[in-house]
Amino acid sequence: MQLIDGKLLSKQIKEEIARDVADMKADGQKTPHLAAVLIGANPASQFYVQSKVKSCKQVGFKSTLIERGAEATEAEVLQIVEDLNNDPDVDGFIVQLPLPKHIDELKVTLAIDPKKDVDGFHPVNVGRMSLGLPSYLPATPYGIIQMLERYKIETSGLHCVVVGRSNIVGTPMSILMSRKAKIGNATVTITHSRTRNLKDILLKADIIIAAIGIPNFVTADMVKKGTIIIDVGINRVEDATRKRGYRVVGDVDFENVAPKASFITPVPGGVGLMTVTSLLMNTLQAAKGEVYG
Ligand code: GUN
Repeated sequence: MQLIDGKLLSKQIKEEIARDVADMKADGQKTPHLAAVLIGANPASQFYVQSKVKSCKQVGFKSTLIERGAEATEAEVLQIVEDLNNDPDVDGFIVQLPLPKHIDELKVTLAIDPKKDVDGFHPVNVGRMSLGLPSYLPATPYGIIQMLERYKIETSGLHCVVVGRSNIVGTPMSILMSRKAKIGNATVTITHSRTRNLKDILLKADIIIAAIGIPNFVTADMVKKGTIIIDVGINRVEDATRKRGYRVVGDVDFENVAPKASFITPVPGGVGLMTVTSLLMNTLQAAKGEVYG
């Protein structure tokens, strides 16, 4: 069993980005600039946005954080998006989800200029991805592709089972794994909460990508020997032995599944760290005009 080390990979990728940014600056080009919009006080969202801003600093990007309280109106958020679309200094921006219930997330996502949509959530980017055209890939799937590529894992012809069909992980991941590309060319099965005989399907998988959001959902009896396991879950479970009262576990029962796996991503220290790194990669591409020219 080989561990896919998200901590090490994200450090390497950040160093590569930092070198690129230093070269751009030395060349007289503008500093890549990511803006993040955070509405309300969701603790997980605050944590994610802070780590995005911190990562920008690490690689030499400029970052702007626009924060509003949960009482912000939809019109105000749409105005912020409009202003960022029109700000020539901002290369890319994200609106952290979830938004408060009175704000229509789809409306906000549709208002983002696809050229600045470094989250890859706008239907134009989703469509371009589906057609294999240049696009911003959503951060988590992009991070997983990086992990597979950098660990030289051959996916062509393998049976990949994706557990979960969310718009930001399961669905794009299933598209990417089936694409005609270096990481891709897999035979993909996408499964979800209504899937029957999930265990039988998982036992036929060569690659399992677990993104269902249920702690320790994939157990050892569901996995054949030699499977490549990608665990996207970030679940808090109560743990009185920890100072903060909880620990973070994945969607895979790591302890019992790892001995059967050929490769496996840990939680923490796996996919989660790659997500922010991918956002930086997209922002760099935006600054260089690599996706839309
Ligand atoms: N909420 C959870 N994941 C994400 C993400 O990747 N981007 C944004 N904008 N919101 C999120």
